[in-house]
Amino acid sequence: MKTGKLVDKVAIVSGSSQGIGKAIARGLCQQGVQVVLNGREAVKLQQTKSEFQAEGHSVTACTANIRFPQSAAKLVNHAIKHFGKLDIVVCNAGVSSKGTVEDSAASNFKILVETNYLGSVYLSKYAIPYLKQTRGHIILINSVGGMRGMPYNSAYTSSKMAQTALGQALQVELYDFGIHVGILYVGFTINDPNKKILDIDGSWHLLPRRTNINLTKPESVAYSVIRMIHHRRKQATLTILGHFTYFMTHFLPRLSHWVAIWSRHLIRDQFTFIAKPEEVKLQPRNEDIRVGQNKYQQEDSTVS
Ligand SMILES: NC(=O)c1ccc[n+]([C@@H]2O[C@H](COP(=O)([O-])OP(=O)(O)OC[C@H]3O[C@@H](n4cnc5c(N)ncnc54)[C@H](OP(=O)(O)O)[C@@H]3O)[C@@H](O)[C@H]2O)c1
Repeated sequence: MKTGKLVDKVAIVSGSSQGIGKAIARGLCQQGVQVVLNGREAVKLQQTKSEFQAEGHSVTACTANIRFPQSAAKLVNHAIKHFGKLDIVVCNAGVSSKGTVEDSAASNFKILVETNYLGSVYLSKYAIPYLKQTRGHIILINSVGGMRGMPYNSAYTSSKMAQTALGQALQVELYDFGIHVGILYVGFTINDPNKKILDIDGSWHLLPRRTNINLTKPESVAYSVIRMIHHRRKQATLTILGHFTYFMTHFLPRLSHWVAIWSRHLIRDQFTFIAKPEEVKLQPRNEDIRVGQNKYQQEDSTVS
């Protein structure tokens, strides 16, 4: 029998059918939390749910695209319908893109802001009335890119900085209600083999596995989320690069600008650019596949 502070708590983890969200959901389940899994693709989500149930975890799954307010509300209602309460919301679902402002498809900015920022807004908004009853937690899965604007990654970094602002505002707005809001700045993490990102032209692209940077394990991110919940921490930063960026942006902001200027080619060529693998010294995990027509754009267009 599971014992501990989190036993029988109820959590929603958005974007938990793969990657970091899946690791967070599993970590919470191992603490005895009942978890609502979420993603857009029903088949993948169902597979994750079956995997978790086979491990003996108490989970349910809700297909919902958190870019849309009514879908975020549906996700919250699903949790209440199945488990009768809500203690923890982890706003994890996120997508990324690469490229300069000038060259990137305009739609990339819209998709990223709607997913990474508005998705967190909507989920928090509809969860707050229930979290007031449990004095629960909102955890925002942010990024080192949410600390300062990163070149060649502006759509992502803008959406994550907006999520930082959301978290800071919520920390004050929800103070009197005893709701804890934690912002977790995650660094480069081992990607799920199915992770796709938006290329400059607006098409989805499998992200090659990075070999040029030290990567955190998704399980370490999950561990940090659990610690953040236990200690009701307002923010935490992962990886050495994350701590370095935090220090520079907060204590030496002018120097941090010049460091970004001096290392701009490194950032462009090694950290953010999608091009032929040999050009960026990345090793492709699979074939360098273009996923082609953006099916999520099609799916999204059917939702009002
Ligand atoms: N990986 C890293 O190095 C890294 C570093 C810093 C921060 N982060 C942050 O960590 C979070 C997770 O990243 P990840 O690397 O695990 O990504 P991932 O492997 O691409 O997984 C994203 C998850 O979110 C779901 N999702 C995407 N858009 C959604 C939407 N609109 N509505 C509902 N679900 C959606 C995906 O499922 P479907 O495709 O089925 O919707 C999937 O389950 C993101 O917020 C990301 O910004 C990642």
